[in-house]
Amino acid sequence: GDNVLYLAHKHGIDLEGACEASLACSTCHVYVSSEHYDKLPEPEEREDDMLDMAPMLQENSRLGCQII
Ligand code: FES
Repeated sequence: GDNVLYLAHKHGIDLEGACEASLACSTCHVYVSSEHYDKLPEPEEREDDMLDMAPMLQENSRLGCQII
């Protein structure tokens, strides 16, 4: 699907996605600019749980494969 992980790869951006969007890793961790962050639906609990394991977590952290 057209999530941020997919789009990054399509545009040659080297974002990891070890579990292929099945919410079993945090390698697709990205920072979303505040302008866009506020427009996204809240992360679901499973995304939050995975984000908690991401290094360098910030307020604007999301998992790229979950941003549609
Ligand atoms: Fe694993 Fe996004 S690719 S959670």
